[in-house]
Amino acid sequence: MTPPALDRRTFLGAGLAATATTAAPAADPPAKKVRVAVIGCGSVSGVYLPNLAKCPYAEVVAVCDIKPDRAEKRGDRFKVPNRYPHIDRLLGGVPFDLLVNLTDMQEHEHLNRQAVEAGKHVWSEKPLANSLAAGQALLELSRKKGTRLWGAPIPVMSPQFAFMAKVLAAGQLGRVAAAHADYGHTGPGWSAFFYEKGGGSMPDLAVYNLTTLTGLLGPAKSVTAMLSVVTPTRKVDDKGEIKVVAEDNAMVLMDHGNGVISHTQSGFNYFNPHGHEGKNETRHTIGIVGSKGAMGLVGYDWEPQGVDLATENKPGFVRQATDKGGYVWQMGAALAAECLATGKDFLVTPEHALHVLEVIQAARQSQDTGRRVELRSTFKWPVVA
Ligand SMILES: NC(=O)c1ccc[n+]([C@@H]2O[C@H](COP(=O)([O-])OP(=O)(O)OC[C@H]3O[C@@H](n4cnc5c(N)ncnc54)[C@H](O)[C@@H]3O)[C@@H](O)[C@H]2O)c1
Repeated sequence: MTPPALDRRTFLGAGLAATATTAAPAADPPAKKVRVAVIGCGSVSGVYLPNLAKCPYAEVVAVCDIKPDRAEKRGDRFKVPNRYPHIDRLLGGVPFDLLVNLTDMQEHEHLNRQAVEAGKHVWSEKPLANSLAAGQALLELSRKKGTRLWGAPIPVMSPQFAFMAKVLAAGQLGRVAAAHADYGHTGPGWSAFFYEKGGGSMPDLAVYNLTTLTGLLGPAKSVTAMLSVVTPTRKVDDKGEIKVVAEDNAMVLMDHGNGVISHTQSGFNYFNPHGHEGKNETRHTIGIVGSKGAMGLVGYDWEPQGVDLATENKPGFVRQATDKGGYVWQMGAALAAECLATGKDFLVTPEHALHVLEVIQAARQSQDTGRRVELRSTFKWPVVA
């Protein structure tokens, strides 16, 4: 049967309505490319743009930054024809379908809202918003508008995550008891926002581990945390000497129900003999233990190298799932474009991102009050069936 011809707008709408079981429309990538606008042309745009440039489902039509020279530079480097110095000009300029938001963490909420209000799909770097309530309102708005909204990070897309999820589902660890994750380095030196209110090591670093652990062990029921500032002042490229307001040291305990407790440690004061680059990290940065087995993720969950698994029957660690299968942490926006273009299902959901945002918010509340904080949000789990 020949599918009815769709104009561009109808095509994208049809893609959005599709579910996991819906067949993708006939392949015709050039006609069906999702038009992408990237806002925020700083550090991370340098790794997102090459990925988007390679994606057969995406065409970057515009770049935008309040520092216009940055938009010009990225535009020249990646041959993007339209450059804007402000979101208002971007939204009023060349038509596009998907906004990829790579700005300062504190800017995401209002820019995402403005884009959704204008009927755009949004892929946002973390966090989606500054609070759970604002994030939920944003998701509600995007549903009303018939647009899609997603937030980084995407560790649930790695083959190593899938492997660990299957080990857990098969009961290979026996009665699961505890998990630990850690991620830290000595802190970004280029922008102040990482250390200002709304920044911190939790939304920048722990967010990966919190996404992985809730993805593997289930939504958290409650959170207890201790946070601190170890280095009270910093020198950063954009503002010189600044006061550090957000946590640069964080210990977060999550209760996943059924007795399962996890611990996530993150900070901006972590000397690492292996450096910041993921490919050189070979420790277990995530460990999960049960009554009949244990497993450790080799390397970071954003750049995993494999999974070491030991069980009652095979008590020595055996390294498995070493194939990356094309997964890289900076491919989120390209996968969002693919999802829009084909209707293909995506394991990354806004509900999961908002749950992790609530964990971070609750950790701050726990630090402020000295109390355990119950959570309200949840997401579809298990992530990998
Ligand atoms: N740098 C990394 O390695 C990395 C990795 C993963 C995720 N991230 C995340 O990506 C986001 C950006 O981080 P970064 O390191 O690229 O920061 P950055 O400071 O290098 O870049 C941010 C850019 O956004 C621009 N910007 C700020 N507000 C704006 C606005 N209202 N409109 C348009 N442009 C605006 C700034 O001028 C700047 O060029 C953050 O959420 C961060 O947590 C960064």
